Amino acid sequence: MAKKGEVLLEVNDLKMYFPVFKGIFKRVAGYIKAVDGVTFFVRKGETLGLVGESGCGKSTTGRAIIRLYKPTSGEVFFDVPEEIKEKIRAYEEEGREKEAALLRERYDLAKMPDKALKPYRRKIQMIFQDPYASLNPRMTIGNAIEEVLRIHGIGDTYEERKKKVLELLTKVGIREEYVNRYPHEFSGGQRQRIVIARALAVNPELIIADEAVAALDVSIRAQVLNLMQDLQEEYGLTYIFISHDLSVVRYISDRIAVMYLGNMVEIAPANSIYDMPLHPYTRALLSAVPIPDPEIRDKKKRIILEGDVPSPLAKPSGCPFHPRCYENMGVICATKVPQLEEILPDHWVACHKVSKEKDKIRKEWEKLQREKKAREGVSEQEAGAKSSTSKSKGKRKGR
Ligand SMILES: Nc1ncnc2c1ncn2[C@@H]1O[C@H](COP(=O)(O)OP(=O)(O)OP(=O)(O)O)[C@@H](O)[C@H]1O
Ligand code: SF4
Ligand SMILES: [Mg+2]
Repeated sequence: MAKKGEVLLEVNDLKMYFPVFKGIFKRVAGYIKAVDGVTFFVRKGETLGLVGESGCGKSTTGRAIIRLYKPTSGEVFFDVPEEIKEKIRAYEEEGREKEAALLRERYDLAKMPDKALKPYRRKIQMIFQDPYASLNPRMTIGNAIEEVLRIHGIGDTYEERKKKVLELLTKVGIREEYVNRYPHEFSGGQRQRIVIARALAVNPELIIADEAVAALDVSIRAQVLNLMQDLQEEYGLTYIFISHDLSVVRYISDRIAVMYLGNMVEIAPANSIYDMPLHPYTRALLSAVPIPDPEIRDKKKRIILEGDVPSPLAKPSGCPFHPRCYENMGVICATKVPQLEEILPDHWVACHKVSKEKDKIRKEWEKLQREKKAREGVSEQEAGAKSSTSKSKGKRKGR
């Protein structure tokens, strides 16, 4: 089992194409390239925020990882030792396809036969936007959670499982006496807590939360996010947090991955992406996030993108963002697909212009870091002067 900080999930060149059929003979007329070669990893115990406009392939990425869809191609390694991954790649390089295929069937979630997936159905849980749709309206919440425990062989007797159900409900802030109530008797926020309890019941290692708080009121949203962070600390959980709302993602994420039209365009630690967003698309997305501080807000320039997101059925050539990009460099952008490159520490960007200007960007970044350190030094001195006795309260991520 991966230790905190080690890579838990590694996704390489993942593709998920949906065929489009036409005519009475149902001829394949083309493919919707919902996910078109996505590469990223998630470390144990961290939260990776996955953002991008509607239709960019966030949910499909999550669904392909947990094998609700069978990926078109690519590899998905969940908690696989590095030696095994190296062995598979070595076999493939040596042309020992059979041995490689056997190992892939055993370790690569993208190639695993359905019957081998059961343990992963427990280890990786997915939470969706609408908790009501994922709870059976005719089953009490207690029975719904008990059923999951039974299916996964957790708890020997009904009494044991019922005890665990009550513990789980208390953990997520639902009172024990509500155990025999039905989903419709709860509010949206409470229902999402119940869904979280049901996901927790099977001791998952990775939770993929797909717009899990999008339908909740702002105050309830903060409570559910706080609960998820507390549970992460307590159980050492790893999250992929999918959202189109960058302010929510900032609140909860250690690192952020930005998707556009089925591709990953930027991946970086949350602070790095907010201090220095590099991809033109990320910069446009961030420029639209409301800022409470009027001083910063007034200085900030809003970048309005022209045109709509193209259809994944007819993806533009070269950089998929080029028809809307305000930094477009012409032929290279229209013809050559940019690859992710590490521009700053752990900060990866897929953009020809950013790659070309990386030396300048690195200098700017170093300057920014020096200024930041100097500011922190000053504020630490000020804080030290004010009070040497006050204790700092628990600080949440991204604030
Ligand atoms: N089962 C499917 N069959 C055909 N096309 C699909 C299927 N699922 C998704 N798509 C298409 O794939 C693209 C990506 O969809 P996806 O739901 O992954 O986007 P998303 O980023 O999650 O968007 P949103 O923010 O609206 O949830 C869209 O064009 C969508 O219409
Ligand atoms: S590669 Fe070119 S078109 Fe694409 S984001 Fe960068 S500058 Fe814009
Ligand atoms: Mg979605």
